[in-house]
Amino acid sequence: MTTTASTTLPIPAAMAGRVALVTGAARGIGLATVQQMARAGVQVVAFDRPGSPWADVRAAGAPGLLEAEGDVGQGSDWERVIQQTLQRFGRLDVLVNNAGVSGAIGPLMDCSDETFDEVMRVNARGVFLGLKHGARAMQGRGGSIVNVSSVSGIGGGRFTVAYTASKHAVVGMTKLAATELAASGIRVNAVCPAPTSTEMVFSMERTVSPDDPEAVRRGMTRMIPMGRYAEPAEIANLIFFLASDASSFMTGTAIPIDGGLKAA
Ligand SMILES: NC(=O)c1ccc[n+]([C@@H]2O[C@H](COP(=O)([O-])OP(=O)(O)OC[C@H]3O[C@@H](n4cnc5c(N)ncnc54)[C@H](O)[C@@H]3O)[C@@H](O)[C@H]2O)c1
Repeated sequence: MTTTASTTLPIPAAMAGRVALVTGAARGIGLATVQQMARAGVQVVAFDRPGSPWADVRAAGAPGLLEAEGDVGQGSDWERVIQQTLQRFGRLDVLVNNAGVSGAIGPLMDCSDETFDEVMRVNARGVFLGLKHGARAMQGRGGSIVNVSSVSGIGGGRFTVAYTASKHAVVGMTKLAATELAASGIRVNAVCPAPTSTEMVFSMERTVSPDDPEAVRRGMTRMIPMGRYAEPAEIANLIFFLASDASSFMTGTAIPIDGGLKAA
């Protein structure tokens, strides 16, 4: 029994050779997911913004890696990436809708219309487009879609109105898609992480308290019963479980992975 971060899972052999598309793959939780998939012999399509740093993705060593640059909020980019995926691999088994942005942090009354629209465009529209194009590609064979929501998708929080709205939308779309797509053999689940050690959170700490970002971390981790942030690999473990047949009777769930935050 351990309460420190466990970053390795027993790998189900059945995942080897499957094809997984991961958005926001170049760093953070997306990169950890690519690394986990690569360890399992999964063929990976890594989707991230143009100009993203690809070195760590390449170093993960996924067989047949396809690097796809684009914007998850653009339907035409999804069409191109799915077409490239089917040309290269002939199938899509797993889609991880992970790409996301946090938007400005601040009171609801100060959130600009532009911030709200951009966060919704990437986090909610991006997942909608992924579900639509991903499900079309999976038609006939089935598959597993994992959407990355947040604890902000199941509770209110504060100072992140656009982010919270977008992550609730992800949970709603997960439930709808699971219901609609069950007959097609496509499972759809969401993961809802608490703060995780990635650049998204580190930059939020610096923005909130440029002189003492550590103070923000101390305040945030005090609210988490386990007393720390998640490691990206811990979130990737749950994503991988939901992507695999080990979760074959699970669909429509939104699972907190939060060191006890939502239980407290
Ligand atoms: N880090 C956390 O504390 C935390 C907690 C809960 C949920 N999440 C969610 O996890 C997901 C991954 O976050 P992270 O912490 O790894 O963040 P991150 O900022 O480290 O990485 C996000 C990745 O998404 C990519 N991306 C952003 N906008 C994109 C777009 N329009 N098109 C394509 N790619 C785009 C970025 O280039 C980046 O590589 C996000 O959906 C985030 O909301 C993060």
